[in-house]
Amino acid sequence: MLLSAVIPLALSLAVTAGDNGALNGRQDAAPAPAPSATDRPKPGPKSIYKDPSASIEARVNDLLPRMTLEEKVAQIIQGDMGGWMNFNNPLDNTLSHNTSGLVSMMSQKAGSIWAGYAAPYEKFVYGVNAGQRYLVENTTLGIPALFQSEGLHGFTNNGTIFPSAIGLAASFNPDLLKSVGGVISDEAEGLGISHIFAPVLDLSRELRWGRVEETYGEDPFLTSAMGAAYVTGLQSGARRGVSKTATARMAATCKHYAAFGSPQGGLNLAQVSGGERELRTMYLKPFHKACVETGALSIMTAYSSYDGVPAIANSHLMKDILRTEWSYPYWVTTDAGSVDLLISLHGTCDTRECAAKTTVENLNGEMGGGSFTFLTLPAQVKSGAVKESVIDETVKTILRTKFALGLFENPYPYLDYNKSIRTATSRQTLLQMEREAIVLLKNKNSVLPLSTTATKSIALIGPQAGRVSMGDYVFFNASNNGVTPLDGFKQLLKGTGVTVNYAEGSKLWNNDESGFDAAVAAAKKSDVAVVMVGTWSLDQTLLWTPGTNATTGEHNDMSDLKLVGAQLALVKAVVAAGKKTIVVLVSGTPVAEPWIADHADGIIQQFYPGELGGTALAEIVFGKVNPSGKLPVSFPRSVGTAPAFYNYLKGSRPLDPGFISDNGTLTFGHQYVLDSPVPLWSFGEGLSYTTFAYSNLKLSSSKIGTKDGFSVTVTVSNTGKVDGQEVVQVYITDNQASVVTPNQELVGFQKVSIPAGQSKTVTIKVNNDQLAVWTVGSKWVVEPGTFNVKVGSSAKTILNTVLTVQ
Ligand SMILES: *[C@@H]1O[C@H](CO)[C@@H](O)[C@H](O)[C@H]1NC(C)=O
Ligand SMILES: *[C@@H]1O[C@H](CO)[C@@H](O)[C@H](O)[C@H]1NC(C)=O
Ligand SMILES: *[C@@H]1O[C@H](CO)[C@@H](O)[C@H](O)[C@H]1NC(C)=O
Ligand SMILES: *[C@@H]1O[C@H](CO)[C@@H](O)[C@H](O)[C@H]1NC(C)=O
Ligand SMILES: *[C@@H]1O[C@H](CO)[C@@H](O)[C@H](O)[C@H]1NC(C)=O
Ligand SMILES: *[C@@H]1O[C@H](CO)[C@@H](O)[C@H](O)[C@H]1NC(C)=O
Ligand SMILES: *[C@@H]1O[C@H](CO)[C@@H](O)[C@H](O)[C@H]1NC(C)=O
Repeated sequence: MLLSAVIPLALSLAVTAGDNGALNGRQDAAPAPAPSATDRPKPGPKSIYKDPSASIEARVNDLLPRMTLEEKVAQIIQGDMGGWMNFNNPLDNTLSHNTSGLVSMMSQKAGSIWAGYAAPYEKFVYGVNAGQRYLVENTTLGIPALFQSEGLHGFTNNGTIFPSAIGLAASFNPDLLKSVGGVISDEAEGLGISHIFAPVLDLSRELRWGRVEETYGEDPFLTSAMGAAYVTGLQSGARRGVSKTATARMAATCKHYAAFGSPQGGLNLAQVSGGERELRTMYLKPFHKACVETGALSIMTAYSSYDGVPAIANSHLMKDILRTEWSYPYWVTTDAGSVDLLISLHGTCDTRECAAKTTVENLNGEMGGGSFTFLTLPAQVKSGAVKESVIDETVKTILRTKFALGLFENPYPYLDYNKSIRTATSRQTLLQMEREAIVLLKNKNSVLPLSTTATKSIALIGPQAGRVSMGDYVFFNASNNGVTPLDGFKQLLKGTGVTVNYAEGSKLWNNDESGFDAAVAAAKKSDVAVVMVGTWSLDQTLLWTPGTNATTGEHNDMSDLKLVGAQLALVKAVVAAGKKTIVVLVSGTPVAEPWIADHADGIIQQFYPGELGGTALAEIVFGKVNPSGKLPVSFPRSVGTAPAFYNYLKGSRPLDPGFISDNGTLTFGHQYVLDSPVPLWSFGEGLSYTTFAYSNLKLSSSKIGTKDGFSVTVTVSNTGKVDGQEVVQVYITDNQASVVTPNQELVGFQKVSIPAGQSKTVTIKVNNDQLAVWTVGSKWVVEPGTFNVKVGSSAKTILNTVLTVQ
């Protein structure tokens, strides 16, 4: 296929500088047919698209008509930095590149460049510079590329790794997550990255799905708030030396649009069932709030189909809602290889031509994943099968993202890139997030915190104690930069005289019990036992390596939520040793083990931590830090009792928690024989070493109009002996609606620090749109009637009052 991005190189030598768009009589913004490669003049420095003071739309409209068809198509296909750099050995620091590889890559795939590699910083920067310099200096139009990498919970080229997204969500602290987003951006931007493939806004309502750890949990409101914080933190600010019209320094990617997180059977990529109401009231909310309202500069589509239509072929989702109703102007990329899946997975196309046409007609670009079906587009335009105007609309979306980043003014890495990576400030943000991500679930007779004076020795047991169990989306031994729990405890206890008796006890995976004796012996000779078990995930670079299985993460779905291998038996053996036992569940997803819930004295949930998880865990166990995390996802008693999410539609779980006796048994009504649909722990739960009392619940007005919002004020008192942070949560129940609404739904929360013995008055605003239902007539309507407004420390609320909407 003839590809023209190379040809202009020769041309550019023959043409003199100046705004030649005027010389050949072509109007800049005219919707003229694309010029052929041979009659096109080189743009001059005064071209509108090069003018940093011009508006983004004027620049887009000036540039587009200057592009050949082949250049347009090259903009909407993802290239790969591996095409000119050798990244096979992540430790190799050779500073050279393959020039013919570079030229051939940029001739076909030049809009965005996959750069999710692990390499020494210097070499990485060299590679980005080579690519951008070529585009800017050696192609006619000089359009720089988006350089893309991963940053779900830390920039993956040896940047600071934070807890997995599900742990970030457990902090219930959007301000802190905003700082985390800022660190990820600092680290990636310095090395020349302009596009990060995060956040994940899927809802974890199907827990068998391995990617639960990548989400902010089960709830659309929490996911919206945390997603917005990440996007704002990542995008805030401007690249150096860029235009005033630039709006962000890094493009976030809201993914996976839409409804990807509830695949049938929990199997990744499987179809998702549901209708328009479920789509609107659950899955789409985070995309609107965290993405469209914050000005996120890109979206990635879902692999799956929803109600029988593949996301990338769904004109209702991609065009009617996203482009028309929400007026989303920016870049939407497919996920790797999804265009071909229209043929091989969904069976809605039988040719690559059909797949490319369908995808681009829905204004999506192509992330190749090795196969580049969009290369069929130039011929399809020439034959009349695909309209060039469709290509134009798609190209405009990526150009807007680039202008919004100021890429045309400065697409390069920074000379002082090393100064923004792994700084002292980023360590502080990391440590604070590690602390706030830990959730205390059980604390019988205040077994925790342990005291360094009263405790002489602890047994630290279990396969999670001596390793750094990071979630997926880290590369090349990132966990080597982490502190294990064992090291965390040793560091904290240094000089205190408290002994740590460590025993691995069992492996994560197999049924080998040969380590039990040593574990039981360690427990017996210690004052207290801390047993660390859970699930595990894989470094992305090990994903396809045989023998390196995992129980969570992308491509690792499970039919069960129990501990695998000998882990439960290990916990039982340690409990039987007779010492007070604290179980730490290190996992990326809820672990459903009622036996542990019943028999452990203390239970701590640590979703996959980042580099300082071991440090933070030791601080929590010994009370240097008071736990303040809350569950972003409910823990079912067993996989068969799922879904366990708290915001089920009325009638789905026949009994409200109010009908359950204090000891947890159901008093009457429908339930599972020999089991209960009531989760072990519900959304929003998490204990503290202090106690909080709630009083004086007031609404700004107990009667409001259908267009009004309201606010909730409550007094929260720290009635215990230590300072603490509480997450004050507001839920509503719509008492009568024209459609079935959730039993209750979170509509506001605020994390507050309250010193021991003191009180704080907390005011939380609830917007009018949170009262709306999606009616049978397909409209958002706030219907008159009453709402219960409930406030408390979890979805099991403490105070309530009634709001009347009239
Ligand atoms: C350089 O790239 C060209 C074009 O992709 C490829 O054919 C060649 O094998 C590469 N050379 C090396 C040394 O990798
Ligand atoms: C880019 O242009 C420069 C200056 O004209 C030239 O020296 C260089 O070889 C070109 N690079 C490529 C890869 O064509
Ligand atoms: C990652 O960064 C750390 C800290 O700067 C450094 O010690 C380590 O060598 C780096 N690892 C790689 C693979 O570059
Ligand atoms: C950046 O830091 C790395 C070590 O992490 C070092 O090898 C390299 O020389 C530094 N680069 C610059 C430009 O200072
Ligand atoms: C990662 O760790 C493994 C095992 O410890 C080692 O063989 C490999 O070389 C390491 N890779 C890198 C990139 O550090
Ligand atoms: C992976 O699974 C196999 C059994 O299928 C097991 O033998 C092996 O030890 C496991 N690997 C790891 C790293 O757990
Ligand atoms: C739990 O509480 C119910 C209702 O108060 C009572 O009938 C039942 O006996 C209790 N069960 C246990 C095991 O204590």
